[in-house]
Amino acid sequence: MRPARALIDLAALRHNYRLARELGGRKALAVVKADAYGHGAVRCAQALEGEADGFAVACIEEALELREAGVRAPILLLEGFFEADELALIDAHDLWCVVQAEWQIDAIERARPGKPFTLWLKLDSGMHRLGLAASDYRASLQHLQALPHVREVVAMTHFARADELDCERTDEQRALFHQVCDELHLPASLSNSPALLGWPTAQGEWARPGLMLYGATPFAGPHPVADRLQPVMTVTSKVIGVRELAAGEPIGYGARFVTSRPSRIGVVAMGYADGYPQFAPNGTPVTIDGRPGALVGRVSMDMLTVDLTDHPAAGLGSEVELWGGQVSVSELALHSESSAYQLLCGLKRVPRSYIGE
Ligand SMILES: Cc1ncc(COP(=O)(O)O)c(C=O)c1O
Repeated sequence: MRPARALIDLAALRHNYRLARELGGRKALAVVKADAYGHGAVRCAQALEGEADGFAVACIEEALELREAGVRAPILLLEGFFEADELALIDAHDLWCVVQAEWQIDAIERARPGKPFTLWLKLDSGMHRLGLAASDYRASLQHLQALPHVREVVAMTHFARADELDCERTDEQRALFHQVCDELHLPASLSNSPALLGWPTAQGEWARPGLMLYGATPFAGPHPVADRLQPVMTVTSKVIGVRELAAGEPIGYGARFVTSRPSRIGVVAMGYADGYPQFAPNGTPVTIDGRPGALVGRVSMDMLTVDLTDHPAAGLGSEVELWGGQVSVSELALHSESSAYQLLCGLKRVPRSYIGE
């Protein structure tokens, strides 16, 4: 069997969730969209059930997968519904729903659910992706609150630049949110992971941590709180071939690496079809049997190459960590001009196994 593996540590996931809730101070929805950022939504939700105040997903398909697996906690649809007929399923499966546009409010008005809806009314406080404009927010809220089939409304917004700790934009967004929402006396939800970790004054009733649950920092450098996160996913594979080469020999596609000394090169079963960044440069960190090592040569679809010259004990079957407990996914992201979000969500084809249930 191909030796590429992803080991998911569910105890680390719970540790990170507890940290998120401690930072937010109140309740936290665990964001498990995109298959829990590549970690397996059902397994992650089950590991957090009983502990998490609820979950958040991108769409009804993701919510139904959790309900079908027996997850009974609240589940929020972060983009609401895409078509009005989803409201019947939202009702039937007792889902919470973000409302981010006028047409959704009209559809909610026309719906006749068996139970009243819990809605999260989204303010566009400056990200300019989804959400109602500040000038429309109060009227939209009144419209919803006048409907007999609306039980509760939570006021929410989303930050665009909270990972930039010296950028004023988060404070501007926060100020607009408070200006519009403070007098409305609704529970509030502002924070994603970077806001929870880096903007202690930008909290509300409900936090919405995603990335930090999986143990990755959203920041480019060290951070005293983010450094308390524990990595959840460790991706490893093995050396499946070894080449002894003289100085001056090219390796792999495009000869991007040419040996500068007599070298031993290890071929590892991991490639960009697994989600490893194709253009990770020479020198990108890996570990080889637990010791720091380096990628050399261009990453192929199913394989990549590492320098074993300074690892005399390593050879066929040696374990190579691509990211995880020793090479943080954020560090790999920095090297490869990618992001921890993209790397985690982009893992494909690699069998997952779980510890720490
Ligand atoms: C509306 C919303 N809230 C929360 C999150 C979680 O963000 P993060 O993974 O940065 O914690 C996301 C993620 O994209 C989101 O879209």
